[in-house]
Amino acid sequence: MAIADLGKVLVCIPTYNEIDNIAPITERILAAVPAADILIIDDNSPDGTGEAADRLADSDPRVHVMHRTTKNGLGAAYLAGFRWGLERDYGVLVEHDADGSHQPEQLPSLLEALEDADMVKGSRYVPGGSVVNWPKSRELLSRGGSLWTRFVVGIPVHDITGGFNAFRADALRLILDDITSVGYNIQVDLTWHALQRGLRVVEVPIEFIQRERGESKMSGAIVAEGFVRTTAWGLKHRVGQVVDWARGRFGGERGDEAQAS
Ligand code: GDD
Ligand code: MN
Repeated sequence: MAIADLGKVLVCIPTYNEIDNIAPITERILAAVPAADILIIDDNSPDGTGEAADRLADSDPRVHVMHRTTKNGLGAAYLAGFRWGLERDYGVLVEHDADGSHQPEQLPSLLEALEDADMVKGSRYVPGGSVVNWPKSRELLSRGGSLWTRFVVGIPVHDITGGFNAFRADALRLILDDITSVGYNIQVDLTWHALQRGLRVVEVPIEFIQRERGESKMSGAIVAEGFVRTTAWGLKHRVGQVVDWARGRFGGERGDEAQAS
């Protein structure tokens, strides 16, 4: 299926204090995928990002702005943006940071992969992917988190926390009500629930460049939310695997046979 058949693309950009970044990133996204629309989801940034976004929307009909009243978390901003897009019948929804860490020029490769997938994750940790200018401590945290979820928790994705993702609208509709993370853990939440629903999740390599302007909003509380939730999902999943195995080994099959006869 060609990407055009999937419908119109909406690129969602959550912003909190991205005054220097919002215009250049918008311009790059529209240059990379001219047929796309953009939704900027601003949490009432004190630095005037919301007003800058309004000016961009005034000068280009492809740009839309959602103003929210307070800083409510990356996850909450994306959920509100997704709902806005689904109500307006966009066929493809994309997550994209404002700060230049994600390269809009790589968006076409994510969209192409969506032709054979329900969710495409831009991935730093598959061959061809990379991280540029990240402090070692942050890279260790990210890689450690991905290894934890991959091997201990059992989620077969290399870059589980990655925030440059594309979804078919139908896939998002299927999982949206299950997503409850308010912080950055929304990335893991979306991936986990997509896999649970049996959706096709594909990773494509991306280059992630540490922001040059402004500050990351990552915090200890965000890491804690991710760790606690991911581990809880994983344990549930692992316990389920053991129960399935035990059923097969010690009697579950007999029960099935008895039912069949
Ligand atoms: N509206 C809104 N509300 N936007 C927010 C909020 C919020 O509470 N918190 C962050 N943002 C926006 C930022 O303005 C930026 O555009 C984007 O969300 C990402 O925020 P950063 O603070 O730059 O995130 P990061 O670089 O630490 O984390 C990135 O990489 C992580 C994986 O390593 C993001 O892509 C994460 O989603 C990802 O998990
Ligand atoms: Mn960032």
